[in-house]
This record gives sequence, C-alpha cells and structure tokens, in this order.
Amino acid sequence: MADLIGNKSAKEYFENIPQRRSQFDLKGLDNVDWGMKDRMSKIFNPKDNRSLMLAFDHGYFMGSTQGLERIDIQIQDIAKHVDALMGTRGAFRTSISPTNNKAVALRVSSGSTMASEDITKEIISVDIEDAIRMNAACMAVQTFIGTDQETNSLKNLSDVINAGNRYSIPTMGVVAVGKTMERTSRFFLLATRVIAELGAQIIKTYYCDDFEKVVAACPVPIVVAGGKKLPEKEALELAYKSINSGAAGVDMGRNIFQSESPEAMVQAVAKVVHENFSVDQAFELYNDLKNELTKK
Ligand code: 5RP
Repeated sequence: MADLIGNKSAKEYFENIPQRRSQFDLKGLDNVDWGMKDRMSKIFNPKDNRSLMLAFDHGYFMGSTQGLERIDIQIQDIAKHVDALMGTRGAFRTSISPTNNKAVALRVSSGSTMASEDITKEIISVDIEDAIRMNAACMAVQTFIGTDQETNSLKNLSDVINAGNRYSIPTMGVVAVGKTMERTSRFFLLATRVIAELGAQIIKTYYCDDFEKVVAACPVPIVVAGGKKLPEKEALELAYKSINSGAAGVDMGRNIFQSESPEAMVQAVAKVVHENFSVDQAFELYNDLKNELTKK
C-alpha cells in the first residue's frame, strides 16, 4: 500500500467532462464483462474492429498436413503479421513461442480424425482451467449442425460457453461443413444464428452467396474460414468479399501456409482486412513481396 507521507489531496475533478465511454463498439459486446471485452480486443483490433486469424489447428483431426509439417518453423515466421493464432494446446505448447504476444484462439473440441469415416463425433477435450493457463483469448468449438451429431456438438458448444462466461473467456463457434452439409446461404443463416443464440461471442463460418444477409442476421462478429487451398488471387478475393460483406475478419489457414509464399500471402491478406486493399492491390503486393523474399 502506498505510504501516506506527502499524499496530495485530490483537486481536479473535470466536472464539465462526462465519464468516458468504452470506444470498443464491436457488435454483441454491449452487455458483457470487462474481461470479455479485453480478450475480444486482443483478437479484433479496436482501430477497425477487424481480425486476421492464422489457423493451424488442422492437426487435431488431420495429423500433419502440407505447410504444417513443422509448425515451429512454418508458423512462427508469419505469426507477427496477424492478430490472432488459432491452434491446439499441443501445437502452442510445443511449437509456438509464448513471447509472440498474439491472441490465442484455442481449439478446445476434438474427438474424430480423418482415419474414421465420420468426423462429426466430438468432445470437449480442453477444460477451462487449461484454457486459462494458456491465456486463451477465445475457445473454438466445432459445431455439426444438420448432422446426427447436432445435439452433441451444440451441447459441447453450450458447455464451453457456460465455462467461458464464468471466467470471461469468449467462445468461438465454428460452423463445420462436410460431405452432408450444404454450403448455401440458407444453411449458413441457420447455423450462424443458432450458434449466436446459444451465446457464442464469435462465429467462424464460410463465405456464401448473400453473405451480407448472414452477417446482418448474426448479432456477434463473424470471421470467415479460408477453406481449401485456392490460387492466391482467388483467396484474396475471398477475403475481400468477406470483409466487404461485413465480416469482422478472416481465419485463414491453408490459403496462407500452403501458399507459394506464406509470408507474402499473410501480409497481402492483412492489407485486405485492415487497410481495405482491393484484390488487385493485394495481389500486386503479394507478388512484389514474393519476389523480394525469393531473392533473400
Ligand atoms: C480446421 C479448422 C480451421 O481452423 C479452419 O478451417 C480455417 O482453416 P482453413 O482456412 O485452412 O480452412 O477449423 O478444422
């Protein structure tokens, strides 16, 4: 406790200046706790309420995949260009430096792998204590809406939201798409709104036609997953269309770490997300950076 010697009595009260209000007006946050807002502000930059997440959690069901053979090498170098890192606790603890000062989007659901026919059966494999230990800025839960695992996955989501609310850690509901689930705006309108109504603070989904309707009907921020690897210009177009349809960000994995030049691609996507670059501007930057990096 400070000592009382030399204490100076308060004297300036700024009576004519009203109490400052939080400037962080990300949608869905009006009535949540300070800690929840603090964690969300680590993911979504309050300057533009947007986020570029780098996803490398694929190993939880795919094992090693191209571009993630050595996360300690392939992700560490590009992490500096993003707002948040999405990965498993195993990948973070073994392969990501705790000094990179990026928001942790922690994958907490798992339970199926590509070795089985059905990858929709999941559990919650990371408990809230380990999410707190990992200093998670949010916890990611896969939801399999429209499958016979729908109830189980929505229970998983609800259990994580309940635990997260106890400790002001946001939950990101991830809309899973697979062989059986249709990638239509009708499906994504349903899935994103259900996840938000169950209390998730962030939704991750895929881009679709009429995406602005999906965004408008969802009362919390949506980030768009990149999906399978596309040619770089098409991936930049996906990011551009997502942002310009109202998405609060993108959560790209394969379109960055499987790019011919991941460090060039991540910077080009960041310009689309945070500096409103057009597709042509971003693609030009990608090529310039790729050529520069190749010379090194
Ligand atoms: C994998 C995931 C990934 O986080 C998500 O799909 C983003 O990665 P990509 O852009 O490669 O699709 O949920 O299960």
